Amino acid sequence: MSNPVSLKIAVLISGSGSNLQAIIDAISANTLQAEITVVISNRPGVKGLERAKAAGIASITLDHTQYPSRELFDQQLIQNIQKYPPDLIVLAGFMRILSDNFIEHFRDRILNIHPSLLPEFKGLNTHQRALDAHKNLHGVSVHYVSNELDGGPVILQAIIKLQDNDTASTLQQRIQVEEHIIYPMAIEWIAQGRLAIINQQVYLDNKALEKPLKWVNKQLIK
Ligand code: GRF
Repeated sequence: MSNPVSLKIAVLISGSGSNLQAIIDAISANTLQAEITVVISNRPGVKGLERAKAAGIASITLDHTQYPSRELFDQQLIQNIQKYPPDLIVLAGFMRILSDNFIEHFRDRILNIHPSLLPEFKGLNTHQRALDAHKNLHGVSVHYVSNELDGGPVILQAIIKLQDNDTASTLQQRIQVEEHIIYPMAIEWIAQGRLAIINQQVYLDNKALEKPLKWVNKQLIK
């Protein structure tokens, strides 16, 4: 019997790779019909590479510090990804800004997860910034990648309520629990052909999303 068609994904990481693990686990549990063709890290020796190895997935380290420019690094990245041709590139804690050339090359085929309710708190230290701003709500966003840092149309956001005793660390932990649910979920929609992007507009089940879908208290709100 031939294998069912599944979405081929390349996962780019820089560190712990807990989102990579969530994707691996969702594939094993058959809740995500996908195959990881390669994991690429721009940092040597990170835990995410061990996770790839343990799962029997090809992995590559491309140390960005060994390249004289972003352009040259990204060219290498493109060449390496092409050896394991994916349908989709999943950025999972990949702490590099991608060049326009890279984004154009894989146009509409790159997803990212960012730990804030975009467009709030683009960039780093999002949990502390949410606390400093005395936000009531905080969360994490899955979005298509565009040329703008942490920009690009948002697909799905998990939302949590801040608690009085929250710190940046507790927020990170609580939000990572949500990340590990919503990232495989959004990828599975792509695998099923339910999610698409056309001219920077996101569609789910052929319906244009006017605003991101919300995941609140373990429920999807459309
Ligand atoms: C996550 O918090 C994600 O939102 C951000 O980077 C972190 C990656 O964590 N983009 P991990 O490497 O997947 O554990």
